[in-house]
Amino acid sequence: MKVVVAEDYEDLSRRAAVWLLIAMANTNNPTVILPTGNTPLGLYRNLAANPKRKLLETAKFIQLDEYQGIARNDSRTLGSWFRHVFMEPLSIDSTALCSFDPSCHDPDEEAARVDRFAMQSGIDICVLGLGQNGHLGFNEPGSDFKSRTRVVELSEESIKSNSAYWGAKIQVPRRAFTLGLGTLSASNQTLLLVSGAHKARILHATLEGPLSHEVPATCLRGFRDVTVLADRSALHYRMRLGDSAIP
Ligand code: PGA
Repeated sequence: MKVVVAEDYEDLSRRAAVWLLIAMANTNNPTVILPTGNTPLGLYRNLAANPKRKLLETAKFIQLDEYQGIARNDSRTLGSWFRHVFMEPLSIDSTALCSFDPSCHDPDEEAARVDRFAMQSGIDICVLGLGQNGHLGFNEPGSDFKSRTRVVELSEESIKSNSAYWGAKIQVPRRAFTLGLGTLSASNQTLLLVSGAHKARILHATLEGPLSHEVPATCLRGFRDVTVLADRSALHYRMRLGDSAIP
């Protein structure tokens, strides 16, 4: 794994956009997994402002996760968040996106459909955020590193962190779809974005703690071609040690 340190969130967001555009320029008609959450917002803003954004026109996108058991037009869907922060500002056609239907009648088949799409397309590029409990997507602590795309119960910690998006814990749906860790591991290139001192403890565990299902993000150490792009606040434990391996 390569660790790249950014000065702050703005620098991280700029670098993430450059990384993604280079990765996409080097791949024909790429299939790209993208996350929701607060961390990638700056990346999406930077992409929208970049003249090379046309590169995105030939790509297919897969939304990393979605709540399950709410209506499609519910304002809390991650799909509507994703449309608002990524698809619309970048004028991406909805036919270029594979996402979960939060209201479908057969959630297991819906998860299997998205997994099939990912595996049949082949995943070229995967961008991820890191949960404070070590989750990737909604692969909560305890997730198997070989897990496929599925419906999960949200952990108490995810409900708490997601309540920041919707105002209160009661507003957070309890179940969600997530691409599985095994599915994500098929990606040719992965970028993990981590910002803020509140992520320092879990980033430390991700990079240097024991490989463990209790910290799902440790599975990234088994993926091919992973770049961890983190800002100084998130890496401050290493900065204090004066780790010269970080450029
Ligand atoms: P955040 O969420 O980007 O809003 O911090 C990341 C996550 O929980 O995966």
